[in-house]
Amino acid sequence: MTNQKITLELLQKKKVAQEKIIMLTAADYPIARLADASGADIILVGDSLGMAVLGLPGTTSLTLEEMIHHTKAVVRAVRRALVITDLPFGSYQLGPQQALGSAIRLIKESGVQGVKLEGGRNQADVITALTGAGIPVIAHIGLLPQTATLGRTYQSQGKDAAGAQILLDAALAVEAAGAFALVLECVASRTAALITSKLKIPTIGIGSGPGCDGQVLVSNDLLGLTQGHTPKFVRQFADLSRQIEEAFTTFGSQVRQGEFPAPEHSFTASEEIEKLY
Ligand code: KIV
Repeated sequence: MTNQKITLELLQKKKVAQEKIIMLTAADYPIARLADASGADIILVGDSLGMAVLGLPGTTSLTLEEMIHHTKAVVRAVRRALVITDLPFGSYQLGPQQALGSAIRLIKESGVQGVKLEGGRNQADVITALTGAGIPVIAHIGLLPQTATLGRTYQSQGKDAAGAQILLDAALAVEAAGAFALVLECVASRTAALITSKLKIPTIGIGSGPGCDGQVLVSNDLLGLTQGHTPKFVRQFADLSRQIEEAFTTFGSQVRQGEFPAPEHSFTASEEIEKLY
């Protein structure tokens, strides 16, 4: 890994060179620091932080202010990766003017380098307006968590020819509108590979098979910090929940048994203090 700052051009070159693009999510300073040090290309302040970090039932209640708050911490931590933040539900659905206002606020107040938004052809005018104003955009199609609760279900997409065609059209529309990358969530592997082969911009898959130009997972899922259900497409690369629980339990029992703090964790005072007893 080089220390070269990740740019949109570099991501484009990685697609051409068939070098995989790595994206990780982060919502706070320590995780962003570690993700950046690991060599991730893109760090996403994804609105999955609503569930992963804030304990919310979904993403729809997240506000722009909350996304700005988390993004500020992430931006402070990252030296090399490109930082992108999700425009939360309700901050761009009213159209290009609202999207521009939200994205400009996000960029000015947090220092983030670009935004991600959910939608295909229906968001093309928004993507055109944002990129026209010089704001880098990642589009996101397939399973769309922001609207999954509003009628659609959490199901994989593009399993038959008609479904694949709809997704391909959406992908081509967001590329034409100026998106510099595309997240494919829960898209059938062959469809994701087909879309990847037809686009000039890189695709980043989550639950969309190995044929994408890059991969993303929610960091809490891959670190084993998610309690309860994790989606089928997640591989857990660590079991931090167990390690953290063990550390907390050991701290508690060592305090109760007088083993902690030990002399090396304590500060000494002069002998005179004895007189005050
Ligand atoms: O919110 C998020 O973390 C995302 C990723 C799953 C791509 O959108």
